[in-house]
Amino acid sequence: MKCAVVVVAAGSGQRLAAGRPKALVELDNRPLVEWAVSAFLAVPAIEQHVVVAPVSDTNLVASLVGPAVVVVAGGADRQGSVANGLAALRADITHVLVHDAARPLVPVAVVEAVVAALTAGARAVIPVLPVTDTIKQIAEDGTVSGTLDRSRLRAVQTPQGFDRAVLVRAHEAVGHDAERTVTDDAALVEAMGIPVVTVDGSDLSMKITTAHDLQVAAALVEVHRH
Ligand code: C5P
Repeated sequence: MKCAVVVVAAGSGQRLAAGRPKALVELDNRPLVEWAVSAFLAVPAIEQHVVVAPVSDTNLVASLVGPAVVVVAGGADRQGSVANGLAALRADITHVLVHDAARPLVPVAVVEAVVAALTAGARAVIPVLPVTDTIKQIAEDGTVSGTLDRSRLRAVQTPQGFDRAVLVRAHEAVGHDAERTVTDDAALVEAMGIPVVTVDGSDLSMKITTAHDLQVAAALVEVHRH
């Protein structure tokens, strides 16, 4: 098995409204993309590192992450960015992890758990957490149409790990529909009927979307160090 990671970091970060792409926003004086890549540089089983950067900032991102990391330009949406990252993989890579730079504090243990599941033969792996809120479905008019069984729900994180050929096939099979936002690579693989294995995620892998999330992450940096 030869494993690589694609870190997608080409989003605009509009909801964070920091005046620059989200991956370049700093957490404890370090850009989010640098935090995100560091977890994968710490795992020897990951043999190639690819970062998908905003088109206008590929040189800047390359200088931040160092010469051992391949930097390619992003696509119009996350799905396009993942596809660009997959296209940059070395020919000998058999498995790939896809990670959102928006989850900068992902613990090394989560990366290792995903790699371990792939090593054990899984073709698709996602880190998950139990859901603590009750989740309801609503109708178009905003009234409640149903309550989901919380015990069977999980919140999904990244990195998600895949057999490379499976993920490439999943991306090709779904095509590119600009009207439909694909937020999750595993959903594409599920659609092909391939089982997706779950491993334990972590509260530290929280996703940074808003300024409030960034404040929470800043408070978690100390926890991450220990
Ligand atoms: O927008 P959102 O935070 O859900 O994006 C998830 C991840 O996908 C982020 O790490 C973001 O940088 C990445 N992304 C990307 N290219 C895009 C849009 C999002 O790499 N065109």
